[in-house]
Amino acid sequence: MLRLPGLIDPHVHMREPGALHKEDWDSGTAAALAGGFTTVLAMPNTRPPIFDEQTLSLSLGAARQKARCDYAQFLGAGPDNSLSVSGLASRSAGLKMYLDMTFGQLRLDDMALWLPHFKNWPADMPIVVHAEGRSMAAAMLMAAIHNRPVHIAHISLREEILLIKAARERGLRVTCEVAPHHLFLTDHSAGEGGLRGKPGRSQVRPRLARQADVDALWANLEVIDCFATDHAPHTLEEKDSDDPPPGFPGLETALPLLLTAVHEGRLTVDQIIEKCFTNPRRIFNLPAQPETWIEVDQDAVYEIRAADHYTRCGWTPFEGWKVRGRVHKVVLRGIEVFRDGKLSAGPGSGRDIRSAE
Ligand code: DOR
Ligand code: ZN
Repeated sequence: MLRLPGLIDPHVHMREPGALHKEDWDSGTAAALAGGFTTVLAMPNTRPPIFDEQTLSLSLGAARQKARCDYAQFLGAGPDNSLSVSGLASRSAGLKMYLDMTFGQLRLDDMALWLPHFKNWPADMPIVVHAEGRSMAAAMLMAAIHNRPVHIAHISLREEILLIKAARERGLRVTCEVAPHHLFLTDHSAGEGGLRGKPGRSQVRPRLARQADVDALWANLEVIDCFATDHAPHTLEEKDSDDPPPGFPGLETALPLLLTAVHEGRLTVDQIIEKCFTNPRRIFNLPAQPETWIEVDQDAVYEIRAADHYTRCGWTPFEGWKVRGRVHKVVLRGIEVFRDGKLSAGPGSGRDIRSAE
């Protein structure tokens, strides 16, 4: 058995409040533990979005009752909430800014709306941007002007990773994450596995990219600070509808896919630890989880099946993929919470990592 630290996923969508038929704090954190993640950072594009005191308390109240792993909640940047959200910063995972079109209502088109957030958000708290292509370049410039770090969510393109690399060489404080689906799927994968040629199932933002983009991510692994699932559950019925929402579940497939890449010699276990634990912990300033680890059977070979998963959405784009590496056991703060497919952590046993208690 391979022993790893409890993994950290800095990018998940829990869907609570507002869309509990897709996921909630209970099913989402069950999926996290089953996937080897003992800490998750939740995105704010729920219904309503998490963007003020009332909605933050709503989400954290639900999490407190239901979460089975440790967690924190991002606040969403809106057109006129920069002062009020900055007052809530210490209770949050960080500030999330949606600068491009995606799922949900939180979107800041005009760059003039970005400015007050970069100005007012506390310097020691993370800012994460959903910014693709040239928006990403603009977000990096804005962070540099305000002399503060910025974390770029789910980069997927060659031009993005090359720009981040160049910016870092010039000393800019920019970090980034990549989602497993952008490492293992391309715009040509649409006919395969869980996607099965249904156009809605391959919808995700950022979109699945070309092979040359995927190759550039693999060729520049040292530039990627974190692997983050962007776990974005929507039901199959929604994905196969006329207006399919973008997003893939990812919590229960990330580690098996990454371990399979280790077996194939494309990645090392040390890189998994660095990008799923050490770096996210540093970037998001997360406390230690004492006596927390996972055990992985690196030789288990099996096929990914959504039917085996805890996520409520009921599907995976990796259905039928043959992988090598299975989570055997998860220990959270000294207590065994998962073993061989069975969960023993109760709802509410997870902790808010930003709470003072
Ligand atoms: O594909 C996506 N789904 N990209 C996002 O940015 C949002 C997410 C969601 O919330 O469904
Ligand atoms: Zn997301």
